[in-house]
Amino acid sequence: MKTIAVVSTTGGAGRTTVAATLAVLLARRGRDVVAIDFDWQNMLGAWLGLDALAPRGIGEALLCASDTSGTSDTSGAWEHTWRNDDGVLFVPHGQLTLDEAAACDARLAAHPQWLRHAIAQIALPASGVAVIDTPRYPSRQAQQAACAADLVLCVCPPDPAACATFVAHLPALLDACRDVRIVVNRLNPAREMQRDVLAMLRAAAGGVPVAQRIHMEAALPEAFARGAWLMDEAPHTQASHDLHGLAHHVDAWLPALEASIAA
Ligand SMILES: Nc1ncnc2c1ncn2[C@@H]1O[C@H](COP(=O)(O)OP(=O)(O)O)[C@@H](O)[C@H]1O
Ligand SMILES: [Mg+2]
Repeated sequence: MKTIAVVSTTGGAGRTTVAATLAVLLARRGRDVVAIDFDWQNMLGAWLGLDALAPRGIGEALLCASDTSGTSDTSGAWEHTWRNDDGVLFVPHGQLTLDEAAACDARLAAHPQWLRHAIAQIALPASGVAVIDTPRYPSRQAQQAACAADLVLCVCPPDPAACATFVAHLPALLDACRDVRIVVNRLNPAREMQRDVLAMLRAAAGGVPVAQRIHMEAALPEAFARGAWLMDEAPHTQASHDLHGLAHHVDAWLPALEASIAA
């Protein structure tokens, strides 16, 4: 099994959109997929078909983990799971109060490998994949997700703030995971400023590759509001092709399905 962390250095960049869509498109390609919501905003479930925010999940497991020094108690991490219509096994974050979220932060600080140890308990075939949604980087959750990941997808809208913060945090991200790739999201090539920012990003990111560009598409949030997928409702839009392109990119990076079936 491989682990993919979806991160970004600005809010509203499209992390949850990318994590949910990627999970579903990989499941539709026949992969075993676990989608983990490691963001206290608890929104991944809404994308994956839940009608209401999940009350309980991995956040509670972290909060209730016994605090024996030196060990990470991950026993409750996978107690609350749910399978969506596309076969994605979903692990919600759950609702936490501000104080509980602060306590979780402290626990993650004390146990920097907590998520990695929890993920090691998942029994998926070699061709399987865990996709982790995260709060904005830097945060304890996003850092743990990046450290646990084989691949970090950094969602970056082509605006100056997103690119400047991405470049500032790139060394830390590369420290956490050697394989970092950029997903440019909300691209509008008609805007000259975006072209300039993208050129700056390419120059500043050094060898970090762009995995995919996803175009701005008003029908994307509209489809979400109707509980549908852009790829199903508007399959001929550029953004729909882009999202399939991202799934193809990741699918090609993952171990072949046939190899794992044969093993
Ligand atoms: N390519 C896109 N085109 C149009 N809207 C988008 C696109 N990507 C994301 N959005 C919208 O932007 C908003 C923020 O996305 P979200 O995935 O919640 O960001 P994050 O998880 O990084 O905070 C959502 O309303 C989402 O539907
Ligand atoms: Mg989000």
